Amino acid sequence: MRVLTEAGGTRDLRRGLRGSVGLVPTMGALHDGHLSLVRRARAENDAVAASIFVNPTQFGPGEDLAAYPRSLAGDLARLEAEGVDLVFTPDAAAVYPPGFQTWVVPGPLAEPLEGARRPGHFRGVLTVVSKLLHVVEPDRAYFGQKDAQQAILVRRMVADLDLPVGIVVCPIVREPDGLALSSRNAYLTSEERRAAPVLYRSLRAVSGAWDAGERRGDRLREAARAVLAAEPLAAPDYVSAADPETLAEIETATGRVLVSMAVRFGTTRLLDNILLPEGSGL
Ligand code: PAJ
Repeated sequence: MRVLTEAGGTRDLRRGLRGSVGLVPTMGALHDGHLSLVRRARAENDAVAASIFVNPTQFGPGEDLAAYPRSLAGDLARLEAEGVDLVFTPDAAAVYPPGFQTWVVPGPLAEPLEGARRPGHFRGVLTVVSKLLHVVEPDRAYFGQKDAQQAILVRRMVADLDLPVGIVVCPIVREPDGLALSSRNAYLTSEERRAAPVLYRSLRAVSGAWDAGERRGDRLREAARAVLAAEPLAAPDYVSAADPETLAEIETATGRVLVSMAVRFGTTRLLDNILLPEGSGL
């Protein structure tokens, strides 16, 4: 496995790889959710590249950029064990040198949900993802449904800007108690960690209502809220039942519905979602 910090060297090495290349972009602090993307990329491509870069431009003021967990040596060992060929791990000055001023600005799909709570977040995400795609020139790039709005926006960008890459969205990997794996789970106190599976329980309740025939958006959102309300440590930020194509809140579902939520536990904000009907991927 080769580890590079410069774009030029990374591009040269990639151009020397034979066959198809899959890219897994990450911010490090790797867990089994990230590794599920690596394994999928490994299965579907002749070579696998990963990037590790804590992208400062997608963090708002007052967010956790400085505190974001970093574990480069352990991350590299895990990637090597998964058979990754190439890791691109630049520093911020290499990605955003003095004079940097050109951005990928998303449209209305970035306005609701995470975009409404984190102004500029998706501009930072799309800009760095497009840079990573240009450096590595992968045939396919792998993203998690965990960050559903991000995956939807990346797909939109790739279509709108004619980027020659296939976007593969992979299912959410969970702990045995249902908590979606996340680097930010490390911030939870043990009490909060015990409470955190309430996100998944609330999504299960929505899925149950859906299976019982419920299609009204307000009833689906209420089914989730009722479960969250029973957990005193959980402070819901939003609960959404939206059209996965437009991210507009649904009144009555006619097709698929993306049920997503952000819930605070103390200072930690957790995300989770489910796509209904279940089994249909993003
Ligand atoms: P990061 O949070 O490190 O996540 C990297 C990828 O792993 C994302 O596509 C995310 O959706 C996926 N992922 C995280 N937890 C997962 C889980 N439990 N199951 C399945 N996939 C999971 O997302 C980012 O980094 C950044 O925004 C990035 C795209 C790298 C741009 O900076």
